[in-house]
Amino acid sequence: MKKILLKNAKVVDDKGIRKSDLVIEGEKIAAEEKRGFFEEDEQKGEFKVIDLAGKYLFPGIIDAHTHYSLHSRGTVTADDFYQGSIAAAAGGVTTVIDYIDFPEDGNFKKSVAERKKEAQDSIIDYNFHQVVQEFNSKISENLADLKELGLASIKLFTTYKDVGYMIERDKWSELFKRLKEIEILPQVHAEDDDLIQDLKAAYSKRNLIEPRYHPSIRPAAAEALAVKDMGEEALKADIPLYIVHLSSAEGLEAVRELRAVKAQIYAETTPHYLMLDNSYLTRENAQLFLMTPPLRNKYDNQILWEGISQSEFQVVATDHCAFNKEQKMQSDSSLEILPGIPGTETLLSLIYSSGVRNNRITIREMVELLSINPAKIFGLYPEKGSLEPGTDADLTVFDPNVEKKLTAENLHSAAEYSPYQDFTVKGYPVMTFRRGELIFDNKLRAEKGSGRFIFAHSSSLL
Ligand code: URP
Ligand code: ZN
Ligand code: ZN
Repeated sequence: MKKILLKNAKVVDDKGIRKSDLVIEGEKIAAEEKRGFFEEDEQKGEFKVIDLAGKYLFPGIIDAHTHYSLHSRGTVTADDFYQGSIAAAAGGVTTVIDYIDFPEDGNFKKSVAERKKEAQDSIIDYNFHQVVQEFNSKISENLADLKELGLASIKLFTTYKDVGYMIERDKWSELFKRLKEIEILPQVHAEDDDLIQDLKAAYSKRNLIEPRYHPSIRPAAAEALAVKDMGEEALKADIPLYIVHLSSAEGLEAVRELRAVKAQIYAETTPHYLMLDNSYLTRENAQLFLMTPPLRNKYDNQILWEGISQSEFQVVATDHCAFNKEQKMQSDSSLEILPGIPGTETLLSLIYSSGVRNNRITIREMVELLSINPAKIFGLYPEKGSLEPGTDADLTVFDPNVEKKLTAENLHSAAEYSPYQDFTVKGYPVMTFRRGELIFDNKLRAEKGSGRFIFAHSSSLL
């Protein structure tokens, strides 16, 4: 197969921004040189040439938080790994890190093997986080398998006791000790369950359970409390803690307080907590905007953006959890609506339009949040998240001048709706290469199942 020359690129990676030409050979990046360097070889016909005419070239975007084929509450999400990965590729995403449900028998070899089977139709690459709901001597022993299986992190919940997700507080200390020993990074979905249960009972008693009450039943205070509690335990155990989908100003304040006493706290937020607010939960179709933690208010949006600008967040990911309209509209009780929204396809264009265009972050900072940092934190760097010669040629070509109205019709999730319906973005991915292969450029080009599980090493945080 011929080498590919991507010429006249504006490359953005951890080394900064520069004008250059990049060569792909097979699945790998072969070289990067100043513009014009490969002219002689080009004239000899050595390359298939793609002229990027000054467009940006990023290391492939990584969505570090997705739920494809999530089996939940008697149903399954609309996006499986095939459809979800098509939407991802269309949005410039070349790798996702998805979740594996906790196996009843604590057998992680089996849970990872089964999840790999569910992911086998993906057209982009993937890795996983393992959910852990219990801790005992058997699980302690089995956790070491995750490392050998190529996973870098586990997810814990401080809520959802009613459905069995919550890990009891008296287990945290021993669990953290074990994770430190085996170099696995803990993540937490932080919401205080006791507070939520009390509020749920109080609101239910008065029948105040419509979507508009979702943020009151699961308030920012519950997030802050859980961040603080688990953060303090992580500090005692001297282990880093990664907070997933941080949604509120109060939650961010708790992160700041922990960092001030030297806790190693790393935080992820999502486009929806930056760009949507609880007024959407008063709409007629409020169900389509319900996820957990809930949308907060405009003040929270602003504080979270400030946090992004001040480098208080390390990752922006989507928590893509796509149910279709029919599934979402089955109930109008916030206690029963299937929680989650689609997001991967719009991640890059939204963060560029709202973040970079509005001078909240530089383009390099955006690439750190969406590619470099997730690759490092989840053990995929430099194979992913870098443009180093010899590493995987996962590349996102981005045209800052393409303007697009986001509509269900021009997006690819099987949810068939977007919470960002009619948002106009300026700047859009126009080509996505996964391990050297052009998989999307206005058109799907990849074969079903051409994505691969990528073995993760230990997190850079450990
Ligand atoms: O509502 C959400 N976020 N659903 C996905 C599961 C989770 O808690 O991340
Ligand atoms: Zn969560
Ligand atoms: Zn999630």
